[in-house]
Amino acid sequence: METFTSPDELHAWCAAQKRLGRVIGLVPTMGSLHEGHLSLIRLAKEKCDIVVVSIFVNPTQFAPNEDYAAYPRHEEDDLALCRGVGADAAYLPTPATMYAEDASTWVAETLLAKTLEGAERPTHFRGVCTVVAKLFNIVQPDIAVFGQKDFQQVAVIRRMVRDLNFPIQIIRAPIVRDPDGLAKSSRNAYLTPDAREAALSLSRALREAAAAVAAGERDARRLEAAARAATTASGWIPDYVQVIDAETLTPIQTVLPGASAMLLACRRDGLRLIDNTLL
Ligand code: PAF
Repeated sequence: METFTSPDELHAWCAAQKRLGRVIGLVPTMGSLHEGHLSLIRLAKEKCDIVVVSIFVNPTQFAPNEDYAAYPRHEEDDLALCRGVGADAAYLPTPATMYAEDASTWVAETLLAKTLEGAERPTHFRGVCTVVAKLFNIVQPDIAVFGQKDFQQVAVIRRMVRDLNFPIQIIRAPIVRDPDGLAKSSRNAYLTPDAREAALSLSRALREAAAAVAAGERDARRLEAAARAATTASGWIPDYVQVIDAETLTPIQTVLPGASAMLLACRRDGLRLIDNTLL
């Protein structure tokens, strides 16, 4: 596996791969890789000749009060995991090689990015879109794979790709969960055993919502109320529990099976978890 820290060197290497006719896949990550990320890399390997994994804790998507400094970083382990699943290149820039000191250009999606996570974290998706657009320009992938765990992020990136004519196919890969249902996340490392046990109420609430829809329930407000009550009872207080149109992310009254999703974000003891399910 090749490793790069310089955007120009990675760009030149990817351009050479393209000239050889190879299909390039990109898996953008912030490192601290777990089975969820590895599933994205494996999926990219199935669809592409060459897979580039970026490992970069992107400062511009963290607000000053968020966990940028404390975000878990395990570069050596990450590189070993990338090698293990057959990634062809890893890109590990530093903030200084990714962003000029006087960088003054942003890429912002201004509609889907406003609600849900965006309401809570108003500058988050601007940082995500900017770094992902930069990665797209550096790597020029044919395909990029993102996890469904960050459902809104995938919708925002798809919209950016459409609106800015990036010739890139965006794949949304299914959520990977621990055997007891907790969605894999680098931030799960922050959970105490009690908080982790109680956090199972999130995935349980989503499973119950999906089961209710399969049994014929269509009332979005009733589904939300049940999920909110279930997580609150476990001490995980919802920031939002929302049934939405899976493409536009607009709240809906009536579930349209196959085209709707339930998204939730909950807090407990200063920690915040997100999870979702297609309905
Ligand atoms: O999902 C993430 O890990 C990040 O938001 C991403 C897409 C790598 C951009 O920094």
